[in-house]
Amino acid sequence: MSTPALEVRDLQAWYGESHVLHGVNFSVNRGEVVTLLGRNGSGRTSTLRAILGLTGSRSGSVRINGTEAINLPTHRIAHLGVGYCPEERGIFSSLSCEENLLLPPVVGTLGGGMSLAEIYEMFPNLLERRHSPGTRLSGGEQQMLAVARILRTGANLLLLDEISEGLAPVIVQALARMITTLKSKGYTIVMVEQNFRFAAPLADRFYVVEHGQIVEQFDANQLEEKQEALNTLLGV
Ligand SMILES: Nc1ncnc2c1ncn2[C@@H]1O[C@H](COP(=O)(O)OP(=O)(O)O)[C@@H](O)[C@H]1O
Ligand SMILES: [Mg+2]
Repeated sequence: MSTPALEVRDLQAWYGESHVLHGVNFSVNRGEVVTLLGRNGSGRTSTLRAILGLTGSRSGSVRINGTEAINLPTHRIAHLGVGYCPEERGIFSSLSCEENLLLPPVVGTLGGGMSLAEIYEMFPNLLERRHSPGTRLSGGEQQMLAVARILRTGANLLLLDEISEGLAPVIVQALARMITTLKSKGYTIVMVEQNFRFAAPLADRFYVVEHGQIVEQFDANQLEEKQEALNTLLGV
């Protein structure tokens, strides 16, 4: 078997004195879409942040394409080809859509990321809005821009935190098509989601996070048999 794109072993993390991850274990193969499900406060965002070294402190093992990253600073981890789209998106409101796109450095190990032309082909609405300031973009446009900006860097492992949150169904459908397109282009994707219905048709595998640990895992073809357990775990 080839080396996983991401392998997380016994990942523990703290914010100051507060111990939030208690030994998270999961792995993601190259080209896979994996979803981390869980209730609010279960530790999904902290898991993504800990992978990148953005929590207070952390221990355990985080391997990116086989390279141990647990002792690396965040910028070095990004240079292993990791792109992070945080919940708050981080769009610069005073910059135009295109200026936001041109901001990030190239970090990919496989050469540059997508060109502006490729980005605009994939996100035609961003082309239309390229001169609009960040503040004028709709929530959906901001979310697309936040993902597009990562693609510019050349990252091939994408960590996406609740990208569907708070968006209208038609936008959520567009995001689903985007995930499908990215998967077909070979990207490896870890999605944190509360919106199970969004994640269900997209992900190859699912992990459920509770109290800072993985408590359940299953494949897309087990969705039906796991439905009841999931409803209990997610409280839906
Ligand atoms: N910056 C922070 N400082 C202290 N505690 C935090 C911080 N961020 C999150 N936590 C705590 O860590 C736990 C996990 O939160 P989080 O990873 O944000 O969960 P989720 O993304 O699944 O909703 C929660 O108990 C939360 O209160
Ligand atoms: Mg979160």
